Amino acid sequence: MKTLRLQLRFLVPLLLTLTVAALVALPLMDRLTLRWFARDLNTRDALVANTLSDAINEAQADGKSWRIQSLFDRAVQDERLVAIALCGPGGEMLRRTEGYPRTLGCTRANELAEQAVPRLPLESGSVHVGVQPLKADDADGSSLVLLHDMSFIDKRSADTRRYLVGFIVLLGLAIALITVIVAQISWRGWVSGMQGILRGEGLLVPLLPPPELQPFASEVRARLRDLEDEYRRGLDLVTVWNPERLRSLLQTQLRGDQVIVVSNREPYLHERLDDGQVIVRRPASGLVTAVEPVMRACSGTWIAHGSGSADRDFVDRHDRIAVPPGTNEYSLRRVWLTKEEEEGYYNGFANEGLWPLCHVAHVRPVFREADWQMYKHVNERFADAVAAEARGDDPVVLVQDYHFALLPAMIRERLPRATILTFWHIPWPNPESFGICPWRREILQGMLGSTILGFHTRFHCKNFIETVDRSLEARIEHEHSTISFHDKETLVESYPISIDWPEGDRGWAPVDECRRRVFERLGLGPFTCLAVGVDRFDYTKGILERLHAVERLLEKRPEWVGKFVFVQVAAPTRSALEEYRAFQQRIHSVADRINTRYGQPGYQPVRLLAEHHEHEAVNELFRAANICVVTSLHDGMNLVSKEFVAARDDEQGVLVLSRFAGAARELSEALIVNPYHVEETADALHLAATMPAAEQRERMASLRMTVRENNVFRWAGRMLADAGRYRLRERIAARVQRHKNTDLDETTLHA
Ligand code: F6P
Repeated sequence: MKTLRLQLRFLVPLLLTLTVAALVALPLMDRLTLRWFARDLNTRDALVANTLSDAINEAQADGKSWRIQSLFDRAVQDERLVAIALCGPGGEMLRRTEGYPRTLGCTRANELAEQAVPRLPLESGSVHVGVQPLKADDADGSSLVLLHDMSFIDKRSADTRRYLVGFIVLLGLAIALITVIVAQISWRGWVSGMQGILRGEGLLVPLLPPPELQPFASEVRARLRDLEDEYRRGLDLVTVWNPERLRSLLQTQLRGDQVIVVSNREPYLHERLDDGQVIVRRPASGLVTAVEPVMRACSGTWIAHGSGSADRDFVDRHDRIAVPPGTNEYSLRRVWLTKEEEEGYYNGFANEGLWPLCHVAHVRPVFREADWQMYKHVNERFADAVAAEARGDDPVVLVQDYHFALLPAMIRERLPRATILTFWHIPWPNPESFGICPWRREILQGMLGSTILGFHTRFHCKNFIETVDRSLEARIEHEHSTISFHDKETLVESYPISIDWPEGDRGWAPVDECRRRVFERLGLGPFTCLAVGVDRFDYTKGILERLHAVERLLEKRPEWVGKFVFVQVAAPTRSALEEYRAFQQRIHSVADRINTRYGQPGYQPVRLLAEHHEHEAVNELFRAANICVVTSLHDGMNLVSKEFVAARDDEQGVLVLSRFAGAARELSEALIVNPYHVEETADALHLAATMPAAEQRERMASLRMTVRENNVFRWAGRMLADAGRYRLRERIAARVQRHKNTDLDETTLHA
């Protein structure tokens, strides 16, 4: 419709111009045609006069003027010659034929003949008036008046006019048709060009918009970005999740009920150093990163394994300590494990069995009966701790991770009215993979003790539901994503975990300053392209594949040798396990090999920093880097990617992200790679290293909006809001039941 209107705008003036042209041209054409014919008739008059003049002169000389009459009568037999008259030298009419108009005297005829188009309208039609002198030699001033029929001229003029009008109409139609076609083609070109720009082609995919649209492309995109920002800012007023909103949700929907968190890893460890000094350390753990800010907002109790060497020295007689040190916002209850318990439950069943089983990272899971027994035993111990910490019979308990698959059902036994939210921080594999676990049924039954069971992605929820479907006699309602087992219903839902988005003044050094400090510390040249990886030193993180990609980049593009440096921060983890020790050794030797192959005096392409880094140091590294590389072979979410995005308030830096990390589903503006495909990852590193600042800004700005909006308070808030709804339903059901019971009692009494 719009195109039609646009085309009409062009066509209407065009057709008007053609009409005006036709109106001007037609009378002009008529006049010209008449002149041409008048000239022809004058020539014909001269010819006739020439032919007749001898005979007239002779007849006059002989005094036989009656012959003149018959001469004239014969001449007018010509179908074009209508009448002839002979005028004397004094302008008197001497003779005329019968059709000669009586009103046309010689003088008037002379006047008419002098006009450009000597035309005389008569009743029978127009005639041409021509006056010719008789032959000069014997002329006495007499002249002949010749009237020629002009109706054929009018007829021809009318024909010509018709043809001309027809031609103009056809011309108009042809022009209109061509205009419509051309307009349609170019409009479509415009529309598809604009669509391309709006879709961001040439922005995410390096394509150029059509040349005629190039001047508009950046303007349109900038405007779109403004609008998007505006929209999100508007939305934020309503939907932004922060500690205050979480606290108010706890007060309103959960009526200030007690919140208890259970995890293996504790948020603060007291470590005694060799010199006897004690330090407080925060572990490199995604779980801790996510749950800690939530606990600070809810002021609840966190139950965890006290694994720090000086932990026992800092708890009260109930094994509790207020944390964070200095601000005391919530209570940490430490549970002590013996070496054997830690060995069987943590190293054995959790990390040699469930960890590789769920990650499907091509490391064979190990299942030992003794580990399984210890796993059950430790889960029981934590269930006792929960029961001991509960102030009432219906606390909200947040069970964290694969260390506690049996805990939900065990808590349910002790506190049947508790609301139990279990969050599984690692992936859930497909039913076939999970099927190799000898105690799969017990694990599933343990987890189905939860009120709500959360995974990072919908995909993991689906895998879990299918696994239950294959292993247990349970009722599954796919529409509501619930599983009913032994009359107890569990909601299986996805809650993508995130980080505490840094708002306001964070006291960070400017990016340039961070870069200067890091470059100085690592001894890097000023024009070095710095890529960083920050992980626990774990085989699921794809560190080996990442090193292969760096090596391939240097092999494929020698121009990067001396200019590209990859720094891997690898926090030691689970080093008691042989699999981990072997893996860590292998990484060291591959890094050495690459450095031997491409290193130069003063230049090492790979820097392996295999030690724990505090959060501030990691943040500084993120701010100094050009690229952050996350190449997990399988990861529930991966918070490193989100922390990198949060660190880049300058909207620069490129994230290279594995498609097998849960984060890839949210952070689609990263360069998404298959870490098993070394070539693809090497190419992504090159693309990242050469990406123009404007494109980095576009991608990073969008990533930052996503992470800011989907922050950790939203993760916890959504789960707790679901828990609040569940508790409300339970309360209503209990009230209805109480009414029913009262009615029943009264009926029995009256009976
Ligand atoms: O990814 C699963 C997970 O429990 C994370 O939540 C955490 O970052 C990591 O493993 C910690 O492992 P560990 O406590 O064994 O060092």
